[in-house]
Amino acid sequence: MSSHDLEFKNIVVLITGAASGLGAALAEVLGNLGAKLVLGDLNASALGHFVSHLQQQNIAVVSLAGDVCDEAYHHQLVDLAISNWEKLDIAVNNAGIATGMKAFTEITLEEFDHTLNVNSKGVFLGMKAQISTMLKQQSGNILNVSSVAGLNAAPKLAAYSASKHAVIGLTKTAAIEYAKKNIRVNAICPFYTATPLVTQSELSDKIDFLNIASPMKRIAETKEIISVMMMLCSPQHTYLTGQAIAVDGGVTAL
Ligand SMILES: NC(=O)c1ccc[n+]([C@@H]2O[C@H](COP(=O)([O-])OP(=O)(O)OC[C@H]3O[C@@H](n4cnc5c(N)ncnc54)[C@H](O)[C@@H]3O)[C@@H](O)[C@H]2O)c1
Repeated sequence: MSSHDLEFKNIVVLITGAASGLGAALAEVLGNLGAKLVLGDLNASALGHFVSHLQQQNIAVVSLAGDVCDEAYHHQLVDLAISNWEKLDIAVNNAGIATGMKAFTEITLEEFDHTLNVNSKGVFLGMKAQISTMLKQQSGNILNVSSVAGLNAAPKLAAYSASKHAVIGLTKTAAIEYAKKNIRVNAICPFYTATPLVTQSELSDKIDFLNIASPMKRIAETKEIISVMMMLCSPQHTYLTGQAIAVDGGVTAL
């Protein structure tokens, strides 16, 4: 056991988009370190299966399926944390969708709106509910999941890129507004990572191309993103706020 392994014991962590990929991997690691979990996802059946899998490991977990575009849903998730464990230490706004690759002029208004609704508005609404509670308890730590597409251009992914740039704007602004209130807000910006968002989407045909785009000539493994998410979530890093950290094998250094 490392010196960091006790830092999540009895810490209450809310994660959206927790039935798959990065959200699920983070939940399982933190749960095994003693965190108490509040998990959400749009996919009720996948969430139910995953929660059973966690309970078999004696992880403390409650869950609620719902859509991050729904403001009331975020209040219900926060209320679950408070009613079960009387606090909300960490919130991870992770739920997100990928879009198909399309030229700028081919993207429909419906696709643009849907992408920004889930990836940007979903984070905004989550943060509003979470910050309200964190203000009352005078502490809190929020991690938003952006992307390298939130830092740089992402050709053929204009709506996704716009949605992830917005996440960084929300992150930095809230970090400054609440810096004096003992609430930290950071974002992680991964390069392509081998989760279902990539491996079970039309991007799966493009993995060779994505590998070549990276200085390391490979996309990320889930555990390489999770280790940095844990660092950004960690109660130990009390002076870390307002940052958008690229975890990208050097892509943004090019
Ligand atoms: N995998 C990558 O290459 C990569 C790279 C950069 C950023 N990201 C971001 O990481 C986050 C997690 O993605 P992932 O790779 O684990 O993908 P994933 O598809 O494996 O998981 C995303 C989860 O979010 C849920 N979700 C989708 N829409 C939702 C909604 N409206 N309300 C509630 N839940 C919803 C899905 O059901 C799914 O379980 C996303 O925000 C994504 O944009 C992923």
